[in-house]
Amino acid sequence: MAQTEYIIIRAQEDGVNVIGLTRGNDTKFHHTEKLDKGEVMIAQFTEHTSAMKIRGKAEIHSAHGIVESEAKK
Ligand code: TRP
Repeated sequence: MAQTEYIIIRAQEDGVNVIGLTRGNDTKFHHTEKLDKGEVMIAQFTEHTSAMKIRGKAEIHSAHGIVESEAKK
């Protein structure tokens, strides 16, 4: 599990939240990391983390390319 690819989240505004969701029968938030503009988080999907939710304006770099999340208007 520790060898899975990394994804990189680059915050484009203050207060971007990276929220980790649990793997398994129930899907719950287990960790929230707050990033300010320009901050980068490098993360993996693990045995505990099946999904991530990004809130706020950020660039998400992964094996699938780059996607941008947008700020709520
Ligand atoms: N303890 C978490 C885990 O091993 C840490 C973690 C990994 C995490 N990837 C994450 C937390 C992505 C938030 C988002 O799964």
